[in-house]
Amino acid sequence: AIGPVADLPIVNMDLAPDGTTRPTVLAAGTFPGPLIRGNKGDNFRINVINQLSDTQMDIDTSIHWHGLFQKGTNWADGPAMVTQCPIIPDHSFLYDFNVPDQAGTFWYHSHLGLQYCDGLRGAFVVYDPNDPHKNLYDVDDESTVLTIGDWYHVPSPQEGGPPSADSTLFNGKGRFRDDPTADLFVMNVEKGSRYRIRLVSIACDPWFDFAIDGHNFTIIEADGESTQPHTVDALRIFAGQRYSIVLTADQDIGNYWIRGNPNPASSIAGFDGGINSAILRYNTAPVEEPTTQLATPQIPLREQDLVALTNPTVPGTHTLGAADINIPLNFAFDAANALFAVNNVTFVPPNVPVLLQILSGAHTPQDLLPSGSVYTLERNKVVELTLLPLALAGPHPIHLHGHSFYVVKSAGTTQLNWDNAVRRDVVALGTTAGDNVVIRFETDNPGPWFLHCHIDFHLELGFAAVFAEDPEGTSAANPVPPAWDELCPLYESSHSRP
Ligand code: C2O
Repeated sequence: AIGPVADLPIVNMDLAPDGTTRPTVLAAGTFPGPLIRGNKGDNFRINVINQLSDTQMDIDTSIHWHGLFQKGTNWADGPAMVTQCPIIPDHSFLYDFNVPDQAGTFWYHSHLGLQYCDGLRGAFVVYDPNDPHKNLYDVDDESTVLTIGDWYHVPSPQEGGPPSADSTLFNGKGRFRDDPTADLFVMNVEKGSRYRIRLVSIACDPWFDFAIDGHNFTIIEADGESTQPHTVDALRIFAGQRYSIVLTADQDIGNYWIRGNPNPASSIAGFDGGINSAILRYNTAPVEEPTTQLATPQIPLREQDLVALTNPTVPGTHTLGAADINIPLNFAFDAANALFAVNNVTFVPPNVPVLLQILSGAHTPQDLLPSGSVYTLERNKVVELTLLPLALAGPHPIHLHGHSFYVVKSAGTTQLNWDNAVRRDVVALGTTAGDNVVIRFETDNPGPWFLHCHIDFHLELGFAAVFAEDPEGTSAANPVPPAWDELCPLYESSHSRP
């Protein structure tokens, strides 16, 4: 793990996490990248050093700190061509931001092309030494971070459309098909102890059905926001989402499968010789693979059953469509061109980062590029987004930068929650007509914020839009963002500045 002030070199390396060697792009030479950890209130200064040279993958880079609000530091958010130009090889970029009011489970990943699918992804945990909710989850150990992700044998696998993942990795370990030689991740537990496990989906594409044979667990956090404790025996985690779960090691001493079964459309699903698995091992249990069976979930997570621990009331009038600003977002796939669209517009990265356009005086949707993809929002308003369903290649996990949002209505239910709706930063769309998802957030964070499908292959095909909050306020921000030449070094050698 690394602390809040660190160098983060981005390097090419050959790696065989599932037994098959391939070239990769990695943070600090590991997959997943090093855990970044700090405390609420810390100032993070992470110096990303681009040491890439393998041109069969992207050699530029840019890093997003997924879930952190970046209040006052929109420029440090990381999506290439939204807030900055790519960091070019042999250059570095200092991400300098504060985390004054968040604690929980986050992650970081490349936000340039499909680069995080090549390996540049890791977990990011913010601890709260004075956590007021500790009484709700008195645990013996909260050191476990469990990343789950899809792994591909082909570098930058975008040609011919989204590929199918070759394996599922828990903390960078997994098996390709039934090759029993590759190591699986083992979590060791002591009988009678309680563990807070931070489950992080670092997936490019699939969702995972997560369960631990023979054990229930209690959810206490979703996407960096505390929830009322809610006990389940299975949950479906979508790309980009996180959960903290409390596990009590209260079963017979032995070995148990930890399962993360991916959706079959984009992966090798199922269970065969340890694929899509890790191991829960009680101390003193024999060092051998589990023989436990998958049980049919009895109490799987339904998102509408998750409720916020604090900030209980959804802001604004408690009627659908009665926020200050109401925006329906209609998502579509244009099969003829193999492109996605948001309200009929396919997102194409602009030549000048949206933030630099705003700082250069472009403040209206007419002036901001890419044309039709940027929505401007006034400051201090309640925004309601109605996210219309899209069946094809779904459910699609929609992520908004710069905010947690209230999930007023989840997919798959008619239930509305105005009282204690869960807050999170990635929500899955519905897949059937009329099954809208409704979210609300407040425009308390000037700057352009990306909204996109977190299936990286879909983002690459234009499944995105930008919400530019308070453009005038963004221009007037104090402290001022880094100069143009830092956000876009050597930019003028290849482009003309507006
Ligand atoms: Cu993890 Cu733009 O997101």
